[in-house]
Amino acid sequence: MNDPHPRISDLKMSPRPLVIAHRGYRAKYPENTLIAFQAAIDAGVDMIELDVLLSKDRKLVVIHDANLERTTNGHGEVGNHTMAELKKLDAGRWFDPRFAGERLPTIEEVPDQAKGKVPLNIEIKRSAYEPNSPPDAIETQLVHLVRRENMTESVLISSFEWRVLENIRAMEGAPSVAALSRYPDADGHAAACRKLKAFSWHPSYLELREDHVREMHEVGIPVFPYNADTREDVERMLAMHADGVITSDPLLLRGFGG
Ligand code: G3P
Ligand code: CA
Repeated sequence: MNDPHPRISDLKMSPRPLVIAHRGYRAKYPENTLIAFQAAIDAGVDMIELDVLLSKDRKLVVIHDANLERTTNGHGEVGNHTMAELKKLDAGRWFDPRFAGERLPTIEEVPDQAKGKVPLNIEIKRSAYEPNSPPDAIETQLVHLVRRENMTESVLISSFEWRVLENIRAMEGAPSVAALSRYPDADGHAAACRKLKAFSWHPSYLELREDHVREMHEVGIPVFPYNADTREDVERMLAMHADGVITSDPLLLRGFGG
């Protein structure tokens, strides 16, 4: 069956810097919600980045923080609430009363919205990693969902926890992976990404240097720094020859061919 979704591999062909919407169109919409993802699609981004964690009943919920306080009207840890409980929370009002009633998406809702329109970069948060690799580990559930949705070619899974990415690489028919680095000056990242067969490398924009980008390019791996959220930061990343940026405001790439 043909995958009707835009392909991750096509992103390497882009003649212009790629625009990856950080948690959706986060600058103007409540992060990691369906309305933020729709706004990013409408803005014509090349990929949408989003975060996933496990609920108490081990379902995948789209949220960045391990705690509910900042982006919902709930309290306590995400992992102490069932998905039914999480679904009752308001995930929009904190940002602006106009978005009251927006809910935390389940991971299953995102492909419904994005399929055929935009590839997804799904970040598995480090705190969701379980070293004992239970049968329903977050990475295993996610890969199964991607396969069920026929989106293997159109999802890029990233994580700061590279053991999650190694587990994914070991699964049959797994989607591509991207390595996140908070401290890109650490030695050997290019070799490690190559060993991992990472599609791309996503370093922090704060620490990135031009020689890091060059080393990654020498092993054929594109570089998408996170999160360049000002025009100045976007310019700095592109001057280093980054292949695109993960940004909360896709319109910052205007004028760069983005
Ligand atoms: O995936 C890039 C970026 O989102 C990583 O940092 O904290 O925004 O999830 P964070
Ligand atoms: Ca993220």
